[in-house]
Order: sequence, then C-alpha cells, then structure tokens
Amino acid sequence: MSDVKLEDIVSLCKRRGFMYQGSEIYGGLAGTWDYGPLGVQLKRNIVDAWWKFFIESRDDVYGIDAAILMNQKVWQASGHVDGFNDPLVEDLKTKKRYRADNLLEDLGIEGVAAMSTTQMDQVIEEQGIKSPDGNQLSKIRQFNMMFKTNVGVTEDENSTSYLRPETAQGMFVNFKNVVDSFSPDMPFALAQVGKAFRNEISPRDFIFRVRELEQMEIELFIHPDNWKEEFEKWLQLQQDFYLSLGLPADKLHKIEVPAEDRAHYSKHSIDTEFDFTIGQKELGGCAYRTDHDLSSHANASGKNLKYIPKDGSEAFIPHVIEPTFGLDRLVLAVIDSSYSVDEQNGEQRIYLKLPEHLAPVRMAVSPLLKNKPELVEKAQEVFKAMKQKYGSVIWDDNGNIGKRYRRQDEIGTPKCVTIDFQTLEDNTVTIRDRDTTQQTRLSIDEL
Ligand code: GLY
Repeated sequence: MSDVKLEDIVSLCKRRGFMYQGSEIYGGLAGTWDYGPLGVQLKRNIVDAWWKFFIESRDDVYGIDAAILMNQKVWQASGHVDGFNDPLVEDLKTKKRYRADNLLEDLGIEGVAAMSTTQMDQVIEEQGIKSPDGNQLSKIRQFNMMFKTNVGVTEDENSTSYLRPETAQGMFVNFKNVVDSFSPDMPFALAQVGKAFRNEISPRDFIFRVRELEQMEIELFIHPDNWKEEFEKWLQLQQDFYLSLGLPADKLHKIEVPAEDRAHYSKHSIDTEFDFTIGQKELGGCAYRTDHDLSSHANASGKNLKYIPKDGSEAFIPHVIEPTFGLDRLVLAVIDSSYSVDEQNGEQRIYLKLPEHLAPVRMAVSPLLKNKPELVEKAQEVFKAMKQKYGSVIWDDNGNIGKRYRRQDEIGTPKCVTIDFQTLEDNTVTIRDRDTTQQTRLSIDEL
C-alpha cells in the first residue's frame, strides 16, 4: 500500500474540479457528492468504455434505460421491501444511529462480515461495547435502505414508490418486452447504466459508500444447466474489463461471498475487491440470481415470463447471472491507482497516470507566452485543429509554463503541446509527456 491517503485524493479532486461535496454551500448533505467538469468526463469515459466492451462489441447484449421510479409491486416481488436491510444500532442516550457491522469493524473486531445479527448483539453485550460517545447501545434492528416516496398527488400507501436501490429490476421487468421485440437466442443479456439510491446508515470514504450512486449492470439470461460455465465466463469478462481500465491485476482480488453475507437473491456470489488507499474493498460483484427475480415477477404479475427455445424444447424460466459494477467506486479506483507522486527538479510532483482513453483532457495546448500575439494566434490555430481531431482538448495559458504543466499533470492530461518561437519558423511544437516529463519536438502535421 502506498503512502497516499484518501484525504490527498479528496483534496486533489476538489482542487481540480473532479468532485465536490453535495450541497456544499449549505454545509453538505451526507452521502452525496457532485461530479465537477473533469469528474463527469472521467466517469463518462468509463461508461463509454463499458458500453463499448459489453454492448457495442457484442451481439448478445441489449442496452436499455428503464425508469428509476417503478411500481411498488416490483420491490415487493423482488424481496427488497422485506429483505434490503442493514443492521442498525442506536446510542440509547444521544439517539445517534450506527451500522452495527461497521461499528464493530472500526473497533478492530475480526470476522464481523460473517456474523449474524444475533452474534453481533452477543459481541456487543459480552465485550461491553459502547457507542462512539461512550453510551449504551440498543439491540440491533434491521433498517430498510430504500428511499420511500409517493408518486402523484395523494400520499397513501397505494401511491408509495421507491427510488430504485438497484438498476437490475428495470431489466427483469423488461425481459419479456425485449424477447418479444428481438427474439434473441439464449443466452443473452440486458445491460444498463443508471442511478440507484440507498439510505446508507453510515455513508463514508468519499464516493465509496454514498446514498446516491451509479451502477452499470448486466443481467445474463441463461438455461439453469449452464450456470456454472456462464458464471465463470462473465467473471472473467468482468476482470478483463477492469484490466482494460488500467487497474493493476495485483490489486484486484476475487472473494467468494459467504452464504450469510450474500444478498437475499443470490445463490453464489464472487465480489471483486480492490486495494484502495482505504484498504481492500468491494469494487463490484458477480451473482448467480437463479430464477429468483423472473419467477417472483411471474408469480406477482401473473405474466408468463418463460422463454420458448427456438429448437422446440420445453419453455423455462431463465436463470440469471449478474455482473454488476459500482460506477462511482470504479471512478475512485481509477483515480486511486493513477495517483502518483515523484520528484522533479527537487520539488514534489503529483500526477494522475490515467490511461489515455479515460483522461478527461487528452491534450492541453498553450502559447509559450500569452502576451505575444503571434504565438497566441498560432497556438489558437493548433488548438482548434486538435479540438476538432480529439474533442477533449483544452486551451491553457494560465500562469507560466511550469505551472501549466503541474496543473495538467494533476488532472492526468497525457500530452501538453506548446507553441514557441521556433514554431513560427519551422511549424514544429514541443510536446511534453505527462509520465516521463520528456519534451520532444514534432511537426504540427504529425500531432
Ligand atoms: N444488482 C446488484 C446490486 O445492486 O448490488
């Protein structure tokens, strides 16, 4: 693990316009973060890479974009109304609430992930564990993490809806629609990117655990006989995608989730954990959801959600393999693993070693001196040409050239192009590499 701390990453993200605290001027809103101009571009580049990798480059995955608000019956059938809970304890004096497993983990108690609620209660009692304010704790109770709301003008239980806690259900309820429209061969998948909401008891660690998050999810519909091989195949694809983002293989760990820790719908889950600066933590997961979702929706809606094979064999309710990706966590992992520090001319330099296809700015163009009109004019010409060619190219004439390089290093710009007096003579420019800081001369036509 490096010496870099989460505070360093948060500070860079704010300083350079990647992320800001949500509602900051009002003191913030816990568990929310806003993406600034560079953060949103980085996030978009990751989504684009994901969409290309899993949807555009394949012919068995169909992208959709379902509504966030869904009929409450979806969440009753899916099991989220009854089962999407976290263990909550309350300080009996201050009434502050904590997530019991986090509280125990923070105290260094081992094996918490595998403990049942009763076991956690026992540990609290036997070890006399108190709240962080030193007061007695309540017994653990289950806290449902869905945000409840009402749709329409009447506020009664018929108008109850929820902000979706996972994008997955939007795909299950559209399974039949896509089959009817496209007659896909089995196996095939639906995929979508979108917001999900979880009323986390203890949001923490910057954009790692938040109340409003973004997911990229795939629901692969299979014949149940093939679940093991499909699971392995998609787990590998998930790993391949992480590697394509430049995440180092030795920082990625596949962890089988024990039965007592699995989501209520899963029969087998492998999480991928990543070595963040905050420790080894979950980045995404792959779950075998069996026929839990489609069978539950078929029963609750009365609709036939069986798949009819084209070879005339018996119709069946497909089972599901779900590779799921936490987009905000991926953004954090990419920044975290790119955050680099070295020394240049006796000074510490911070730079983001982002892969070129993810960098929010691919190139910065500058005139060496901004008070020389002939340099500015030529630099503008180059800037416009490069912008047309690469899109995410910026103009930077702020401060001296050294300061510009430092700024571009911190936002991960792979190349800085400088127009100087020699440019006016031979049409060459200086091109500086972010990682090596080496400068070479190149003809404008070759840029
Ligand atoms: N759909 C799986 C999850 O939200 O974790």
